[in-house]
Amino acid sequence: MRLYFLRHGIAEDLAASDFDRALTKRGRRRVATSAKVMKRLSLEPVRIFSSPRLRARQTAEIIADALDMPVTISEAVNFGFDHGDLRRLTRKLDADDEVMFVGHNPDMSLLVSELTGLDLSMKKGGLARIDILGRSVDEGELVWLIAPKVFDALGMAAQEAGKRDDAPNATPAQKTPATSQPLHSLIQRRWSPVGFDRKRDIDRATLLSILEAARWAASSSNLQPWRFIVAPRANEAEFQKILSILREGNQSWAQHAAVLMIAVTHKFRAPDVENRHASHDLGLAISQLVLQALDHNVYVHQMGGFYPEKAREVYDIPEDFEPFTAIALGYQTLNLDHLSESHREREGAPRQRQALSEMVFNGSWGQPADFLNESNR
Ligand SMILES: Cc1cc2nc3c(=O)[nH]c(=O)nc-3n(C[C@H](O)[C@H](O)[C@H](O)COP(=O)(O)O)c2cc1C
Repeated sequence: MRLYFLRHGIAEDLAASDFDRALTKRGRRRVATSAKVMKRLSLEPVRIFSSPRLRARQTAEIIADALDMPVTISEAVNFGFDHGDLRRLTRKLDADDEVMFVGHNPDMSLLVSELTGLDLSMKKGGLARIDILGRSVDEGELVWLIAPKVFDALGMAAQEAGKRDDAPNATPAQKTPATSQPLHSLIQRRWSPVGFDRKRDIDRATLLSILEAARWAASSSNLQPWRFIVAPRANEAEFQKILSILREGNQSWAQHAAVLMIAVTHKFRAPDVENRHASHDLGLAISQLVLQALDHNVYVHQMGGFYPEKAREVYDIPEDFEPFTAIALGYQTLNLDHLSESHREREGAPRQRQALSEMVFNGSWGQPADFLNESNR
């Protein structure tokens, strides 16, 4: 087994509590650079366990995003992470699995020292790779220990060599839900921002990839009832046309998006035969579009708040098609100066969901399914 121990990045000194200490801007930047280097090193952990403390979670999420792996938040990696915790967390893993732990000092340094028999101290953002020699995780060999400064230098070298800068535009911590189960990082990171970076356009290849993802959605009888009217901001006239169709509350933030769309659905499967699943299938296509977009670090915000009849008029949409939703896409920004107070508040608010028990039933309607355990209720 190959174990990676990562100490969280540089965090702010003060917060409401130690638990809430977030990464600083520099900390985020450094972790993002490390993440790119880790990707080039072809790290492929099957699990990334993170301490629940915010600075560790944010570190883990940036790495997980780059490596395309979900994060498992685990109390075991919190303060006091020790050999017993390591044994428990790795018990069900295969001998050739790679696993990463994102946590705190002194536990990280102590554990790495204990496993290798060396006296090691890990810096913030430092990463150690230890290969386990036998069947149990009692003894390992230190293959390398990368200090954050080395990550910086490697990251810079790669950039200078002209590699594309695809540092993850990380989802803010308050928008990353503490899910009851591990999820794919794209699902975990998705949210609907109103803060879009008006200086960044979406290039043509990225936009085509996003639309291609919608194209390959499932649909009833493969009818593919979705249609998209698409206006990149670079096409000022088209962009303004869609913007004018949005409700005013949405216009105020969506004007900063990089691309606006109107999603339209074809309502009939044959003349006079309604397609009952048309809007369902449009939703599926948009869901794929949203996740593909996020894979390019492009965030999507869907809107019911627009004037369908105005869309019909402006674009001459035939009667058998229905303008269903509007969609804003763009790179998110954490600079919210251009937004209203209420929108700024909305960006800072945590995301909420009903419990699984309120939506997953068996036995009879409304009865939580019997396989849901306590943590899901
Ligand atoms: C069909 C649909 C219509 C929506 N309409 C609007 C809207 O008009 N304005 C808005 O600000 N957000 C709109 N939203 C975004 C939702 O408010 C948002 O998805 C929800 O609060 C959950 O937040 P999350 O997407 O960040 O998880 C819409 C979302 C969907 C799927």
